[in-house]
Amino acid sequence: MVSKISFVLLLLLSACSSDSEKNSSKSLYQFYNEHLFFDLDKEVERNSCSIQGSIPAWLSGTLLRNGPAKFSVGGEKRVSWFDGLAMLHAFEFSPKQVLYSNRFLRCEQYYIMVKEKSLNFSGFAQDPCPVVFKNQTSRFIPKDMKNVESASVTIQDYADMMVALTEAPLPVVFDPKTLDTIGNFQYSDQLPKSQIWESAHAQHDLEAGETFNYLIEFGEKSFYVIWKMKDGSPAREVVNKIPVDLPAYMHSFALTERYQILVEFPFVVNPIDLIHRTKPLIFNYTWKPERGTTFYITERSTGQLIAQIKDDPFFAFHHVNAYDKNGKIYIDIVTEPNADIMGVITETVTSPKKILESGKTKLQRFTIDVTTKTLSKETIFNETLEMPRVPADRTAHEYRYCYAIDAEFPNSINDVRPLYKIDVNAGTAQKWAQAGCFPGEPIFVPRPDGQDEDDGVVLSVILDLVNHTSFLLILDARDLTELARAKAPHAIPVGLHGFWNL
Ligand SMILES: [Fe+2]
Repeated sequence: MVSKISFVLLLLLSACSSDSEKNSSKSLYQFYNEHLFFDLDKEVERNSCSIQGSIPAWLSGTLLRNGPAKFSVGGEKRVSWFDGLAMLHAFEFSPKQVLYSNRFLRCEQYYIMVKEKSLNFSGFAQDPCPVVFKNQTSRFIPKDMKNVESASVTIQDYADMMVALTEAPLPVVFDPKTLDTIGNFQYSDQLPKSQIWESAHAQHDLEAGETFNYLIEFGEKSFYVIWKMKDGSPAREVVNKIPVDLPAYMHSFALTERYQILVEFPFVVNPIDLIHRTKPLIFNYTWKPERGTTFYITERSTGQLIAQIKDDPFFAFHHVNAYDKNGKIYIDIVTEPNADIMGVITETVTSPKKILESGKTKLQRFTIDVTTKTLSKETIFNETLEMPRVPADRTAHEYRYCYAIDAEFPNSINDVRPLYKIDVNAGTAQKWAQAGCFPGEPIFVPRPDGQDEDDGVVLSVILDLVNHTSFLLILDARDLTELARAKAPHAIPVGLHGFWNL
């Protein structure tokens, strides 16, 4: 997530920096393009990975990964990381071997980029000619792939189907065995299915058997619509509908056993600007720190908005987890001081140094007293981090460990960027690191019948910058000691989020 934004920032830099700064940002931009966000054109099917080390015999299932993997056509013109073409990857654990497959999502953008060899499509940070685009089509797009988005952000289980999501409607169904694209997910409800924004970070409460998410309905009157979907059902039920004047960009939200919490950062859009759409989507958003950050707390059982609490302005992409206990709500978020990272606040984007500083994140805990409606906060972990994950059965429940990576992009091929296991109660961390190796989002897989929260393994796709290769790293979650690595047949560009599929 962070890197795609950096592209936008670096593009903006060229318009507002001195010559030396331009050169500095240009070389950084080139480094990112060459080593982190390169095109991966090749697709392979169930390629047997060479294994180093010993994979636990109990580990059976498939790690599914999503992310952008094609940014250019003809090697010259590029789109931002936000708009790279979605690719699915699968690491399948079968007895004594790991089989790797990868497939582009067969979305409209795939046919435009790969078959028509054009970059003429609308996107998050690009919209070359919106008026034309509205009527644009490609003769290469098959009928059943019309309106299928390049859903490159997350993977979820919706109604017992695997779906890829981005922040535009609709989720895209794919076959987890073959990675073939099946088509748009058909919600069977009356909620709007177009002209909306929907978070890619739906949250599944395993114990309750419910998936929660929210969408933004844009219009003369706009709303945050919080919805839930029961396991196995494709129908969204509205939990709460909150009117909003200037909707915020909120990449994720908080969920506890009793509450759903939207943390509204002051990075907002006038819906009229989106409807008229004269600029690419994200360039319509503005940082308005004077609005502060607002916590909207909805009770899950009644759908009532029980509190609206203000805090200082800050920004975030990822909530780590949240839970409620004894009348208090605990919300853990990877925060940033502002939305500079988005690059749309052109008046504050003045130098590469500022850009790099804007990437500084930390893990903060926000504690809300439900009775007094007051909020306090503390920093749990003060290292730059991103892509936090917790065990699937701990989502919305009390937990102790999260897994994350150092969020700062490497600036040279020998940089060290650790993978962390953070004890959120103690504020301490263990780490795995190897020079020149950039980890992807770490995903915890529990050992069957394991009792402790960290009894299992952590999986992370590592981009080896030195050798321009990738491998799946398998760590013992108890102390992050390395158990094994499975080498992929090619280097995989920096990805986003994944899913462990049994
Ligand atoms: Fe994300």
